[in-house]
Amino acid sequence: MSKNTIGRVIGETNTRNFQFTVEEGEEPAVFEYVKISIQDQVDGEKKSQDVLAQVIDIQRRNPAMENGTPIEAVETMTEQGIDNTNTVARAQVIGYMGATGVTKPRYASKPGTEVEIAPDQFLENFTTVQDGLNIGTMLTRESVNAELDVEGLNRHLAILAATGAGKSHTTGVLIEELLEKGASMLAIDPHGDYVNMSQEKNEGFEHTDKIRVFKARNPGGDEYQIKVKTSKLGWRKLSELAGIREDFTNQRKIMRNAVNHIKEEKGENYSYSLEDVIDTLEKIQDDLILLDGDEENKTETVEHAEKVQFKIERLESYGIFGTTEVNFDSLLSPQQLTVLDLSGIPFKAQDLIAELVLERIYQARVRHSLGESGETYDYPVFTIVEEAHRLCPSSSSRSESGPRTKEKLSEIASEGRKFGTFLTLITQRPSKIDEDVLSQCNSMIVQRIVNEMDQSSIKAASESMAGGMINELPGLNVGDAIITGPAVKVPSTVHVRERKTEHGGDDIDISRKLSQAREDSLENENTTDKLGDEDTLDL
Ligand SMILES: Nc1ncnc2c1ncn2[C@@H]1O[C@H](COP(=O)(O)OP(=O)(O)O)[C@@H](O)[C@H]1O
Ligand SMILES: [Mg+2]
Repeated sequence: MSKNTIGRVIGETNTRNFQFTVEEGEEPAVFEYVKISIQDQVDGEKKSQDVLAQVIDIQRRNPAMENGTPIEAVETMTEQGIDNTNTVARAQVIGYMGATGVTKPRYASKPGTEVEIAPDQFLENFTTVQDGLNIGTMLTRESVNAELDVEGLNRHLAILAATGAGKSHTTGVLIEELLEKGASMLAIDPHGDYVNMSQEKNEGFEHTDKIRVFKARNPGGDEYQIKVKTSKLGWRKLSELAGIREDFTNQRKIMRNAVNHIKEEKGENYSYSLEDVIDTLEKIQDDLILLDGDEENKTETVEHAEKVQFKIERLESYGIFGTTEVNFDSLLSPQQLTVLDLSGIPFKAQDLIAELVLERIYQARVRHSLGESGETYDYPVFTIVEEAHRLCPSSSSRSESGPRTKEKLSEIASEGRKFGTFLTLITQRPSKIDEDVLSQCNSMIVQRIVNEMDQSSIKAASESMAGGMINELPGLNVGDAIITGPAVKVPSTVHVRERKTEHGGDDIDISRKLSQAREDSLENENTTDKLGDEDTLDL
């Protein structure tokens, strides 16, 4: 027997699975990679092939220690070292390196065949690619790198896992690797998970200056403010956003007339602001402007204008409407990550920004691909969407008016590949994301998932996630991942590497804040009651 042999195939085998009995002391870990030799038909000849397989289940049993065995007997046997433990592992066949890449054998393994631990070099043939993205090491084998094939990302990627399992960390690793390769990336980031990426954590990452952060709220020194160019939206879209439904014909008319009035005064191409619209609405109410057909229903017109003004003021409070549009060069650039930090603004505002940016990027790529003039972009774009289930919910969980971004994401999911626009969708609720969009994500990085509904959605969406692997999802630790699809040569279980940049989106450190609160409270102890005698709570 070869020195690496840990067991021999037993029982019934088929082309997909086999079981093997394990030698005492050689028990493999679950997910360990093994090598066995299987006869397969190659060019009309039967040849013996070295096949990679992965342990997916291990069972140990001592026939002398069954359920009914009294504890005294178990104690005696253990003390006297009588051990008949029998270990059986189940392995899933992955394939061998054939002339056209990884090939599945069409013959089953023969009982009695030796099973070896797969040597590192043998395993590497399956886990590394030329010019690959180094995202970590194989789960049971720190000595073997795990790499993603950039070419495989053209069929979109989904990163799926429960909260805290490591999705954002993994995405950060992917971004670091893609930056090294020169990729143009945009992250739609509702929690500010990627705003700290411009801070280097370990030595040796040169691209921290290639992270550009746009914030919807409260941008700091190096950050840019996200603003939507109001006039680009036009009165229809503004009405829709403000909740002036199509059947509110009078309010819509006022809105149209107000915008037309501004254009008449300031010119067709004037970039008006929401303040301009509000001013005009106020003037209508103060009888300073007469709009067509107003005369007979003056009181009604004033009432409608008041309602419209109220709705537009509510829009204005989002704080995202402006009069200029960012240059495309600032929005996207080769070897750059643009982070759109949408934290702190209402969901509707996040949705609008995401929709507009995705549309702009996608159209620039479509024009480039079709050789059209206008705003174009020369390089493929990787678009990363955090909390994708919120912007792209499944139809069943969609309320009456779903997010605007959903349509754009669906379009990019089905057509983006042709135009070099690739999605990375991240979610902790795979069962809540649109199933068509999810099934367009041919590559998946799946981390720990406990919820059964989420597990079934992954199974339904993924062709290459075998049933046995789904069962292992709850058992993964933080940073562990199962990767399937065209981004890897074979379905791989990996441990994602450490980050080179800072991980963002840190939660508030509760115990530190509490201790600070205790100190502050101690300091204030001797100050007098601030509310006075007549304590009231005016909210
Ligand atoms: N591969 C990893 N190596 C080291 N730490 C990790 C790894 N993956 C995740 N973590 C840590 O675990 C925590 C949760 O990860 P995070 O990516 O924020 O989870 P999620 O986005 O899925 O909620 C973070 O503190 C992160 O730094
Ligand atoms: Mg996260």
